[in-house]
Amino acid sequence: VDVVNADFVKSSVETKECPCDGIPEFALVGRSNVGKSSLLNSLVRRKKLALTSKKPGKTQCINHFRINDSWYLVDLPGYGYAAAPHEVRTDWAKFTKDYFLNRSNLVSVFLLIDASIPAKKIDLEYASWLGQNQIPMTLVFTKCDKRKKKKNGGKRPEENVQIFQELIREFFQTTPPWIMTSSITNQGRDEILLHMSQLRNY
Ligand code: GTP
Ligand code: MG
Repeated sequence: VDVVNADFVKSSVETKECPCDGIPEFALVGRSNVGKSSLLNSLVRRKKLALTSKKPGKTQCINHFRINDSWYLVDLPGYGYAAAPHEVRTDWAKFTKDYFLNRSNLVSVFLLIDASIPAKKIDLEYASWLGQNQIPMTLVFTKCDKRKKKKNGGKRPEENVQIFQELIREFFQTTPPWIMTSSITNQGRDEILLHMSQLRNY
């Protein structure tokens, strides 16, 4: 279950450029700045394997990382980065949606949601799109270490998580699996790795 080695393999700008050896893969997707690259680093216990930044929009390609020489973790660019030019944003939707629909070795998408703030419309839209297209999905709530703050809506992570779950219920026939995490405390790390190993052996 644990990560023994992790290697960066390649960055691709299209699905057809991605590695074609067919080993199982899991993609991390979510709003820009939600903590995708940080989560990947936490999973592999390396501080800088995937590059992170305080500024949204750091990851721009489909980045493949091979784990234990037998499966991939994929770091994707974030959606909803308001400062990105409009063309770049539509492009994002096109190229990641193409990846979700056509990547045959994709076992599950891990949709990351920031638990320290109230649900965003764009997150609900993505959850809905994944549900409608029946893309297997796991929900990962990030930044669960953050305390509630007035400027963030004044709710605890647990409350935000519960509200989000209720809002997406209508998009799914069965409630997607979900995990609460923090890349600072490593909360949820072992749970995600265990869940991924169960999905691979399914
Ligand atoms: P893009 O590549 O721009 O789409 O962003 P990303 O989703 O990869 O986010 P990234 O991992 O670069 O993290 C964005 C910011 O959030 C950084 O400043 C991180 O340090 C911070 N961050 C990420 N995860 C956590 C977390 O679990 N807790 C806290 N408190 N901060 C986090
Ligand atoms: Mg990133």
